[in-house]
Amino acid sequence: MASTASWYCPGCGQVAEAAGACPKCVGGAQGVRLLRVSAQDLLGRQIGDYRILTKLGGGAFGTVYRAAHATTGTIVAIKLLAHPIEHADSQRVVIEARAASKIAHPNCVEVFDLQQTSDRRPYIVMDLLEGVTLSKVMRQRLSVAEAITLISDVLLGVGAAHRQGVVHRDLKPGNIFVENGKAVIVDFGFAKLISDPKAPNVSITGEVVGTPAYMAPEQITAGRELDGRADLYALGCVLYEMLSNRLPFSGKSALQMMSAHLKTVALPVTAYRPDCPKQVSDAIAKAMAKNPDDRFADAESMRRALMLSTGMPRWIYVVLAALAAALVIGVARACG
Ligand SMILES: Nc1ncnc2c1ncn2[C@@H]1O[C@H](COP(=O)(O)OP(=O)(O)OP(=O)(O)O)[C@@H](O)[C@H]1O
Ligand SMILES: [Mg+2]
Repeated sequence: MASTASWYCPGCGQVAEAAGACPKCVGGAQGVRLLRVSAQDLLGRQIGDYRILTKLGGGAFGTVYRAAHATTGTIVAIKLLAHPIEHADSQRVVIEARAASKIAHPNCVEVFDLQQTSDRRPYIVMDLLEGVTLSKVMRQRLSVAEAITLISDVLLGVGAAHRQGVVHRDLKPGNIFVENGKAVIVDFGFAKLISDPKAPNVSITGEVVGTPAYMAPEQITAGRELDGRADLYALGCVLYEMLSNRLPFSGKSALQMMSAHLKTVALPVTAYRPDCPKQVSDAIAKAMAKNPDDRFADAESMRRALMLSTGMPRWIYVVLAALAAALVIGVARACG
């Protein structure tokens, strides 16, 4: 990771001692111009097998970069944690998080690797998503059907994770990408890296793991082991926000918001979105029940309830089933 280079190419990550065009990249008549990089900056540096190209964004616990594999040139996204793992057993923490992040499912981002830098800062190498986060998508008014279709995708992804015993713990619009109309979840396994096993919801830096606006009551009190129903609660909050354009609980501070999750019942979403069917509003309220036992038992039950509540799925299922049957018959005939 150590380098003193002060110029780098955002196209291939090549570093140089002087300004000018990158000798390797061709982009217009002048080639790709090298950019200045400060000594502290990671741009142009190498982390493991990857050269850092550009910064994509940063969250509470780390920074996400676009990077290229040094030999194959494969472009990936790398999320680098801001702090080293301070547990004595950091290797075990990384191994657990690695397992948690590898949920092969079309609605979960593909994770290629999870490693540590020489100063024990973990980093996740994952598929570079071309879409935008749900936070951005939500700035436009979504129809009820559009919102449910996206949440249904997310529920398919979390359902697969839950069946493998993995709880996301930080589902929120910023951790859901929308790519070609399909929702993809990022940051699975990340909570494992930033939480102390003895205090599951408090990070090594003393910050709360999870985002107060979407945190299930049991996640706040940390009095009980979390299961997948904490993720269903968060998705209830996300869907509430997608439809009403506001968070279920507003609070000036994280503490106020967390207190509302524990004690206040949100107004039904229909109060803000009159065209929302009551069954959808009821399903959201059920997902957001204070007691996990009063929520949906699993992601698939919540998904089915939402799909059925819009009134459209029965015929969609019928049409899809008919198409699948026609395809099978067609293939069978073609094969003689
Ligand atoms: N796999 C990815 N492909 C492309 N861009 C990504 C990918 N993962 C994250 N990003 C981008 O990086 C930004 C920062 O992500 P990051 O997870 O660090 O922050 P966050 O989700 O806002 O907060 P948190 O740290 O709580 O998860 C995202 O908003 C997104 O724009
Ligand atoms: Mg994130």
